Amino acid sequence: MPGSRVLLVVTGSVAAYKACEVLRRLQDRGVEVRVAMTKNAGKFVSPLTFAALSGHRVLVNSFDDERPERIPHVRWAEESDTFCVVPASADFIAKMALGIADDFPSTLHLAFDGPVLVAPAMEDQMWQHPAVQENVDKLRARGVAIVQPTIGPLASGRHGPGRLAEPLNVVDAIMEVLIMEPAKRPLAGMQVLVSAGPTREHFDPVRVLTNPSTGRMGYAVAEAAVRLGADVVLVSGPTQVAEPFEVEIIRVTNAEEMRCEMLAHAALADVVVMAAAVSDFRPVAPVPEKLKKAAGDTMSWKVERTPDILEELRQLRGNRTLVGFAAETSNLEARSREKLDRKGCDLIVANLVGTGGTGFEVETNEVVILDRLGGNVTAGPALKADIATSILDAILEFRQRLGIASPEKAG
Ligand code: C5P
Repeated sequence: MPGSRVLLVVTGSVAAYKACEVLRRLQDRGVEVRVAMTKNAGKFVSPLTFAALSGHRVLVNSFDDERPERIPHVRWAEESDTFCVVPASADFIAKMALGIADDFPSTLHLAFDGPVLVAPAMEDQMWQHPAVQENVDKLRARGVAIVQPTIGPLASGRHGPGRLAEPLNVVDAIMEVLIMEPAKRPLAGMQVLVSAGPTREHFDPVRVLTNPSTGRMGYAVAEAAVRLGADVVLVSGPTQVAEPFEVEIIRVTNAEEMRCEMLAHAALADVVVMAAAVSDFRPVAPVPEKLKKAAGDTMSWKVERTPDILEELRQLRGNRTLVGFAAETSNLEARSREKLDRKGCDLIVANLVGTGGTGFEVETNEVVILDRLGGNVTAGPALKADIATSILDAILEFRQRLGIASPEKAG
């Protein structure tokens, strides 16, 4: 599923190089892949190769010296939708069957409670050995998906069963496992409308009133919503963020365009998240030609308030859950609670800006999520992707409390 996270465990086998192809083809399908390797796998393909291909650090040891405050096997296990061993050596299969945890990948296996897939690769005598077959049966009985190895030329030059299944077949099997995991797709059947990024209000063709929003927070919400099963429309101001997979993106420039698109798409939405940093003001009289510099050192412009999109969305009736954002520089909770009441939204995601590490132009964020039933959750400091998941969790919980558990169209 696009937006899903696969934990790819590579173990010691000549076929380790084929895991690179599996990784790439998963990425083609919008899946995010993180790699953990056994020490022996690193003798066949360097962890550097997987780091470069996946865009993430590759973990081989259980000791994470970069972020010692969190135990990596627990974090990685929590953050992944499926655990896939490609290729799986006889040794690693045995460890899985017995529950041995003596290195990072095998520890990760025990810390993971989602669906597991194993694609074995080994010499034919090893594959046919009763010990290996018993271990594979044990895994199968536990619900592990086994991608049957094929018959063909083996590393030794022999011909027989034990060859890693073709990478595309392994990818198909992984996608099947991801689709079959409904518990991890609680937004399935729901329409989520998200706005993101700044707006640009033009004075003339080359001068604008805008703000430093990068759009990353809203994009992260859109991406997380897809991963959790929703159909997502993203109305985006000008940003440099990579387009998420499987999200319908509508690009706009100014507040008025954003307003029109949001109102047009809100009718079908179950959840609307206004993460955009809409410019509060716009020039009253923008001009079509580039203005000459004024004679003096100062220049005056008359600006007016932009339409409050959140307010207009609130006026549409229905069961739609409306989520606003509040960027404050102090008194975060009190001001945000006040904004929640004033704007009449269901939830407000409040963050302190201007404190470094949170808010605009950074990868991480720390937020307080308030809802109109009095709920109050803090999330972070964490990557915006993780904050996005917390926001969607809070939305789902809010809807459950209101008894809007199943997807309903707002009327
Ligand atoms: O009042 P303030 O601008 O701080 O409120 C922020 C929230 O209102 C954000 O969710 C933002 O997307 C939304 N907003 C809006 N239309 C505006 C300004 C802000 O919908 N013109």
